[in-house]
Amino acid sequence: MNEPPDAHSGLHSEQGALRGEHPGRAVAPIVKIRDLAWLEFEKPDLVKAEAFAVAFGFTTVLRTADELQLRGTDEGSPCVIVRRAARSGFVGAAFAAADTADVTRLAEATGRTVRPLPETLGGVAVDLTDPSGSAVRVVAGMHRLPELPGQQSHEFNTGRRIARINATQRPPREPARVRRLGHVVLQSTRYLETLNWYLRHLGLIVSDFLFYEGQRERGPVMSFLRCDRGSTPADHHTLALTLGPSNRYVHSAYEVCDLDAVAAGGEYLLDQGYRRSWGIGRHIQGSQIFDYWRDPDGFLVEHYSDGDLFDNTLEPGWAPMTASGLAQWGPPATKDFLGITPGPGLLHEARAALSTLRGDNEFDLHRLRGLMKVASS
Ligand SMILES: [Fe+2]
Repeated sequence: MNEPPDAHSGLHSEQGALRGEHPGRAVAPIVKIRDLAWLEFEKPDLVKAEAFAVAFGFTTVLRTADELQLRGTDEGSPCVIVRRAARSGFVGAAFAAADTADVTRLAEATGRTVRPLPETLGGVAVDLTDPSGSAVRVVAGMHRLPELPGQQSHEFNTGRRIARINATQRPPREPARVRRLGHVVLQSTRYLETLNWYLRHLGLIVSDFLFYEGQRERGPVMSFLRCDRGSTPADHHTLALTLGPSNRYVHSAYEVCDLDAVAAGGEYLLDQGYRRSWGIGRHIQGSQIFDYWRDPDGFLVEHYSDGDLFDNTLEPGWAPMTASGLAQWGPPATKDFLGITPGPGLLHEARAALSTLRGDNEFDLHRLRGLMKVASS
């Protein structure tokens, strides 16, 4: 008899699913997307937005009075698009389909139409909305920007394995160079419904589930989703979804070369007067070395390196959601990262919680208690 692959004997998680728990993938998804293509934002001040973007490590592809397109050094389309607007906001995510036929298939299955993307991007898109109200574009056939020279990883002497003799280690204190967009994290008042929508429509599969301690029987409250590329490995998460009192963007993450790039790039951002939210540390779910920053509009963005890649054979891991369980090493998760710093953000979230608790969604008093325990556990 063929044994299923055991993902839990020290391979990636201490716990697997219990009988009857969420399987973490749809039986017959409409399409299987290949990757996250780009994120779209609105911001009032594109000059300020670009200054931060350059210090963070992006390269500007396009700059007009009304639009900014930013890229990493990897080949492909821009990874961030910012349009000028009176107020700042997250507009939505674009996911890359395997080909234009998959975009058409998704349009037909959802009763939408395939539209051409602007000439600056090329290709086509189908515009959908997830159950949390977030805009989701699925795209294909865009122009491929050629690869740019990137940072080179350092040669490390590790104990007896000597790779560097008669040579020094001098990482320059310069902006890290962003290679590519890695993932986006979204919060939802309809987490499970939204999760199931992504599994069914985009063919994403769950790498790890988190549950509130003492509430596992009520189901998960966070999931890290990867692309199903068959035997080709994919990032541990391309999208993460979490239950919360409002529907909102949480953070997005951009890959840089290595720990030196994360650390020296961070020193550069501090020198420029930007604000670190939380870091440097190493995550558990996904294993990335991380460093979180606040951009001038208050959006949380992450530099990361050395993340896990899984093929489609691993089953979801299960773990309780705790603040201390967010990292293997590093400083304790900050109030800013956890979203509990007193201020307008917290006030907005508290107001949202009051109306969400009265509404028809998945966030109730029991879940609020579970969430409040996370920060102190
Ligand atoms: Fe992240």
